[in-house]
Order: sequence, then structure tokens, then C-alpha cells
Amino acid sequence: MNKIKVLFAASEAAPYIATGGLGEVAGSLPKALAEKYKDKIDIRIVLPLYQGIWNRNDFEFIGKTSVPLAWRQQYCGVFKKKLNNLTYYFIDNEYYFKRSECYGHFDDGERFAFFSKAVLYILPMIEFMPDIVHANDWQTSLVATYLTTKYSNYRDYKNIKSIITVHNIEYQGIFDLAIAEDVFDLHGKEKGIVEYNGVINLLKGAMETSHLISTVSESYSKEIFDDYYAKGLAKIIEKNSSKIRGILNGIDTEVYNPETDEALFENYSIKTIEKKYLNKQNLQLLTGLPQDKDIPLIGIISRLVKHKGFDLIINAMEGILKEKVQFVILGKGDRGYELYFNSLEDSYHDKVSAKIDFNSDLARKIYAGADMFLMPSISEPCGIAQMISSRYGTIPIVRETGGLKDSIKDASLGRGNGFTFKEESPEALCSAVKRALKVYENKEDWRKLIETVMNVDFSWAKSAEKYYNMYLSLLDIGE
Ligand code: GLC
Repeated sequence: MNKIKVLFAASEAAPYIATGGLGEVAGSLPKALAEKYKDKIDIRIVLPLYQGIWNRNDFEFIGKTSVPLAWRQQYCGVFKKKLNNLTYYFIDNEYYFKRSECYGHFDDGERFAFFSKAVLYILPMIEFMPDIVHANDWQTSLVATYLTTKYSNYRDYKNIKSIITVHNIEYQGIFDLAIAEDVFDLHGKEKGIVEYNGVINLLKGAMETSHLISTVSESYSKEIFDDYYAKGLAKIIEKNSSKIRGILNGIDTEVYNPETDEALFENYSIKTIEKKYLNKQNLQLLTGLPQDKDIPLIGIISRLVKHKGFDLIINAMEGILKEKVQFVILGKGDRGYELYFNSLEDSYHDKVSAKIDFNSDLARKIYAGADMFLMPSISEPCGIAQMISSRYGTIPIVRETGGLKDSIKDASLGRGNGFTFKEESPEALCSAVKRALKVYENKEDWRKLIETVMNVDFSWAKSAEKYYNMYLSLLDIGE
């Protein structure tokens, strides 16, 4: 059998550029597939060449062309780099991508329309005609839409299948309908594909045009049939229900490994778990908290946005802070939550330390140094932090939703790898934390729980196989 050719298109991918979960997955999933199915898949990644991408000096220049987008002809340089058995392509256009932030610009629609168009336009130039293009989130949604509109009559493109993976349905790529022709180059019937509720909705367009829609956990793939989770798209999900798949993400267990992670104060494994406490003491010192190995330390690392459950945290906090406990919070986001955590630190400086920042070095120190990791999301397509904290022996406390529900089971009754609660209420959160604190009091039970948690396999092994099978099914090839 010839190798299956997959082009993985994303707006970010580790290790080059990652601002969140999408970047982590877009780096680690193709890597896992390329390793596990070396002889069966040729998977390549294509990314925008942002200003923040390092090491561009050793990229190979493949060529340049100009990409048509409505009335524009835009410069497009293509670079290539092989890393970890994987080929990365980078789309260069300084006007669009030489900016300090990846997202949040007035012309994001145009930037990612250009990128999506370029992904397809460069295929002859890179001499890689994929069997499948695998797009991710709204930024690359137009890859699927352009494939069925602009490219449907081209011989080499006609048979390409497409998948859209939804990492978070809240971000849909919504724009004014008035720019459909001028910016997105979509006219008449084509415009109808992306039109939804009077605006342009790029994710909707990809759901309509892709051959498969996947999302990042099984539970989330069911939740999005309900508009509470689908944020307006439930009807489209329903209409395309036969295309929906749910596959839980994994993590790169080489990148996140307490035995080798250079950011830690001390490396450790299950066998040398005492050393985890050196990380805790150093973290307490670093964050200005009293150094005491016996006070349970709870970590929170998150974007500070509503759907991560911060309203629950705020309402439960006073109750939790009555206990013997410490908190280290790391994250940036909505101003209101940032101010809240700053003032909480002022009022409880011996119990709370808040860093309003994105800082992957400190994040790793928290994953290693904390005893528990709190993630009470209102919705969570998959969630990666609960898996990383598990890998570092830090017990997750999560709300049972999406990927959190699929990856963490409550340990109160003996078995399980964390503490969970279902009801969306501060009381339920508070009681899950208190259950964890209770188990923590018994050193032997806690140590056993750490062992169980560290032994759970959150690597990509199982899920990469599911993606592989999804690719096969799409191409109508049996195993
Ligand atoms: C998004 C989701 C998160 C998921 C990640 C990777 O960031 O919010 O739950 O883990 O994408 O798929």
C-alpha cells in the first residue's frame, strides 16, 4: 500500500509557535502519527511564518508565487524544515504575518483567508498532492471551503478529502457578510456556504464542506449537539451528524516528562517521588508563599476566561480559603479576573500567589510543585493541563465536562485518578476540593493516588491510532 498523504493545516503548531491547546496538539499529533506509522503515513504540517517563529535561518527556501484572493495577488514565499521525521512548510508574507501577535488584528479574516488559499495553491510547487487535508479551527476552515468551491474542477484536487477538527466551537470565525466577496472571494452560492444567521461563519462553512468533522474528545462530540455548548451551531452539527467523530487528545510525554524537564528545580519519577516536594518548596519560595511541605498547594494554570469556570472559583474561594491550603495561579485574560486574583493575593498574601502572565517555564514549575491542579471548566473540548499535571503527579480536580470527563475519574470511592464534580455550582466545586484535602491528610493514601495518577497513559499512542483509522475510513481503505 502506498503511504497515505496528509497535509495538516493549522494556524499554530509546537515547537515553532503555540499560544494554546491548538498549538500543542498540532505539534504533537502529527509527530505521533509520523512516528507510529512511519511506513504508512506521510504527514506534513503547514503554518504561517509568523514573526515569532525562531530558527528560520535553517529553513530551506522552496520558492515563491503569488496567491490570488479576490482582486488581490499576494506574495507567497514557501519555506521547508524537517524536524522529528516531520516536514513543516511555512507560508511567508510579511504584510500578513510579521506582527508581534498571531491573532487579534483587524484583518484576521483576510490573513487566514490568504493562508487557507495558499495552503491549496502551493501544492504543485511543494510537489505534495495529499489524499487528505486536515484543517483545524476557524483559521483554516476556508481550506475545506475553497477545496469544494475554487478547486472542485481541478483534476489533481478533485479527490482530496478534507477533515475539520474543532478544538473549541466557541471560536467560529465570524465576520460581516458584506466582506464575503471582497475579502473571502466567495460569491453567490459560495457565499451561502459560509453564511449563517446573517453573518459569515467560517467554521460553519467548513462543517458543511468537510468530509468529516472531528472534535477533541468523545464527550464534547456529544455535548455540541446542544446549543449550550455549540454556541449557535447545534443545528449545523445536527445536519452533519453522520460526519462527527470524537477523539481524545494526548500529550507529548517526551516534552512533558518530570524525569527530564529542564524547567524543574529537581527532576523526579514515581520512584523518586520525594523529590517532588523539593519542587514544591522551591515553588513556594519563588512565589512568596510560606515554605511548608504539609500545606496542600493547589495550582491553576489557564487563560482567564469565563468558560474555564472562573466564576465558580470566585464564588467558592472564600470557603476554600478557610482551609489550610495555598494557591498558585498563573494566567492572563479578562481584565476582571486578573484584577480579582491580584486583589485576592493582597488579602491572602500567605495563601495566594497570582502571576498574571503566560510563562511556560513557571507553568512547568507549578505542574511539578503543586499537589493538586484545579480545572473547573464550564465547557472543555479536551483540556491538556489536567493530563500534564497528572504526568507530574499533581492530582487534578475537574468538572465533569468534555475531555475532563473522559480523562479524569473520581477517586473518592477508591479507584480513580482525580476528583471530579458535575454540578455547575460553587458548592460542588468546594466539596470536590474538600474531598481532595481530606485524602491529602492521609500521607499513605495520597502517595498511592499520586502513583495511580502518574501511571495513567496520556500519551498519543491510543489516539494516534484512532486518527489513523479515521484517515483510512475516509479513504475507504480497510486496516
Ligand atoms: C482548545 C480547547 C481545549 C483543547 C485544545 C486542544 O484550546 O479549549 O479544551 O484541549 O483546544 O485540542
